[in-house]
Amino acid sequence: RRAVILDCDPGTDDAIALWLALASPEIDLRMVTVAGGNAGLDRTVQNACAITGLAGAVVPVVPGADRPLLGGFRGDGAVHGADGLAGVGLPPGPPPVRAIAADAIRATLREARPRSVNLVGIAPVTNLALALATEPALADRVAEAVLMTGAWGEGNWTPSAEFNAASDPEALAVLLAAGIPVTLVTLELTAQALVTPARIVALRALGGGACLKAACDIMAAVPPSRRLGGEGHPLHDPCAVAWLLAPELFRAVPAAVSVDLGPGPARGRTHIDRWGRSTAAPNATLAEALNADGFFALLGERLARLP
Ligand code: BDR
Ligand code: CA
Repeated sequence: RRAVILDCDPGTDDAIALWLALASPEIDLRMVTVAGGNAGLDRTVQNACAITGLAGAVVPVVPGADRPLLGGFRGDGAVHGADGLAGVGLPPGPPPVRAIAADAIRATLREARPRSVNLVGIAPVTNLALALATEPALADRVAEAVLMTGAWGEGNWTPSAEFNAASDPEALAVLLAAGIPVTLVTLELTAQALVTPARIVALRALGGGACLKAACDIMAAVPPSRRLGGEGHPLHDPCAVAWLLAPELFRAVPAAVSVDLGPGPARGRTHIDRWGRSTAAPNATLAEALNADGFFALLGERLARLP
């Protein structure tokens, strides 16, 4: 089993990523750390507790950064709604742990064997960056960081930048320079995990319990993406969890990646050299292609196991 720390900002697709991780025996979910992102921190923490609670999971939920390393907080109410879960109410979960995410991440890494902990970042990665920047020697405990972030083309938050990268570009730069293996799941990859009405019907037909029902209700409540032609919306964050569970569903290549830290309109843009056009050596693995039917089959099979 792979030890995983999942850093999230629930978030409609974060909820489904969390349930996918909790339903998967290959993953030993040590801790859920939470940042402000899709909604403010109070709300994302409350949601993380409700999501883990609905699954009956005993996993610490640890609050973290309420804002990026630089500048102020900006949420994403247009896609995720004011409550972060597109208006799908979940019963309240157990309270969060009274700790700070970056401290808790460092404590877990300190106790771990070299290259044994997988970090899954599906939010602005402020918490992960704070942990590694304040104790850089812990980088050797990390097996891999899988990040849903960035795009090799246009963004979804600004014309240039994807939401998580744009929300805290400095934090992403810290992770890219931390000396840990980083895998990037970008917008182009998650565009292949398109939730269509037909896929929701197929998921509902699996039956399952309250978690699968809530996951389907959430997916049905998220507006279709105009950016992707209006047929459905991309299920971003579960793709990062699926990378750990079933890498055979992906095609990936090494790539040199950097993030624009300037103050201009390209702030937060990820520069991804897919074709070796620069002299920079690859510093990341880029997930480029997804077997979408295989991904949704995995998702359904796992979510149906939950209460
Ligand atoms: C990312 O931003 C958030 O809206 C989603 O939860 C996902 O992590 C996609 O750009
Ligand atoms: Ca997210």
